[in-house]
Amino acid sequence: MSRIVYVNGEYLPEEEAKVSVFDRGFLFADGVYEVTSVLGGKLIDFDGHFRRLQRSLSELDMQAPEVLGELLEIHRELVARNEIGDGLIYLQITRGAPGDRDFAFPPEGTAPTVVLFTQSKPGLADSPQARAGVRVISIEDIRWGRRDIKTVQLLYPSMGKMMAKKAGADDAWMIEDGFVTEGTSNNAYIVRGGRIITRNLGTEILHGITRAAVLRFAREAQMTVEERPFTIDEAREADEAFFTSASAFVMPVVEIDGAVLGNGTPGPVATRLREIYLDESRKTAV
Ligand code: PDD
Repeated sequence: MSRIVYVNGEYLPEEEAKVSVFDRGFLFADGVYEVTSVLGGKLIDFDGHFRRLQRSLSELDMQAPEVLGELLEIHRELVARNEIGDGLIYLQITRGAPGDRDFAFPPEGTAPTVVLFTQSKPGLADSPQARAGVRVISIEDIRWGRRDIKTVQLLYPSMGKMMAKKAGADDAWMIEDGFVTEGTSNNAYIVRGGRIITRNLGTEILHGITRAAVLRFAREAQMTVEERPFTIDEAREADEAFFTSASAFVMPVVEIDGAVLGNGTPGPVATRLREIYLDESRKTAV
């Protein structure tokens, strides 16, 4: 069975789905996206992703597509048509394909391009990586200044993952002025003396939907949360560390730049938060 994707109002086999060569997502990375996980055939944190999508569009003065109000239905339809139990749904909206490459935004009324597709990942929540913990390296953060907008400009994060791979690690955390901003595709946390420390929100990081949920659950469980920048030196000396994202949930980090954290296995705080997050978000999944 061929995967069914959604492009501008149509459900099509992936081989038949087409986007214009003039699409501004392709030419200028002029597009925004969301990744929503699916567990047991249901969408995790859909409302949060939907709200952030609207914010990304509005921060970029990008016209919302006419189907904005139908996105939940489209997500569900793709889950059903592709028989997704566990996996991810990728959604991308670009400023459309006006014809002719022009730096200026296209005339008002140019239809945005809307693409959604599924990636099946059986056992997504039961990953061996989460059981063993992952290793990260630090790299300089050279991205643009509006990282709070979820744009498809992902070349540097992609290069960061390759730098990590080359160094024999799993991922990279990015550093600006000595402070950790975030991971290449996740939000970063350390734990010191039982306190969970993660960078405060601003334009320097993406406002993670998983981050918001995890911090809420942590506070509800009477854990102490400090939202402030932390240095990479603090991170290397932390008791434990972890990152969060829609695709990784809560992922324990056991090594930073070669420095082993604790006893080199996932720490109790990360382990507990992963359990709570998975339990609670399954309950509210749609
Ligand atoms: N990435 N920071 C960055 C730079 C990200 O790309 C992501 C998500 C996050 C975590 O956000 P959330 O919890 O809302 O997924 C933080 C997605 C998963 C991706 O690009 O595949």
